[in-house]
Amino acid sequence: MTKRVAILISGGGSNMVALVKSMTGDHPARCVLVVSNDPAAGGLDRAQALGVATAAVDHKPFGRDRAGFEGALQKVLADARPDIICLAGFMRILTPEFTAQWAGRMLNIHPSLLPKYKGLHTHARALEAGDREHGCTVHEVTAELDGGPILGQARLTIGPTDTAETLAARLLPLEHALYPAVLRRYAVGDRSLITLPAKETAPDFPLQD
Ligand code: GRF
Repeated sequence: MTKRVAILISGGGSNMVALVKSMTGDHPARCVLVVSNDPAAGGLDRAQALGVATAAVDHKPFGRDRAGFEGALQKVLADARPDIICLAGFMRILTPEFTAQWAGRMLNIHPSLLPKYKGLHTHARALEAGDREHGCTVHEVTAELDGGPILGQARLTIGPTDTAETLAARLLPLEHALYPAVLRRYAVGDRSLITLPAKETAPDFPLQD
């Protein structure tokens, strides 16, 4: 049975585009809805251009009422009947009640090699720490922010001239390769770890002496 996937976004949705484009042919899933908490998110136009149904649930009118926002979100999701939810550049923190309801059925991509650098500003933190490697992680979503079981990681080597901006830009293509690869397995119940090692992804930077 083809799995129904809803993708939650907040911005440009480049990971959403990669996921939607991957769900073709013999892929075990199809995207049935793209939802944004920001009605002005550029990803909504990109999803529509790909022929995917969209919805916006503006979080701003709810203020600090996370449960109220999630209630409206759940109504939109109920109509789409997703089997899997993919968070893709979704910037709202979800309540334990919401993550419990979707436990085992919700994925997220985070721009660090978890468990390192949960939360925000991951690229700057990797640079400040002097890390040689950086990367992204796809994990199951649990009540612990960026803390669920890891399903995939892609790595790159931090170069001597990298900045937070160049790392983010170099990481995106790896995210766009990793997330669809994890989803394709996850949709058939395969939770085996996927890794894209640094050797396949790093340009030839001069070794730092
Ligand atoms: C990406 O770095 C992703 O890892 C993070 O949000 C950024 C933008 O994602 N979660 P997208 O272009 O909106 O998919």
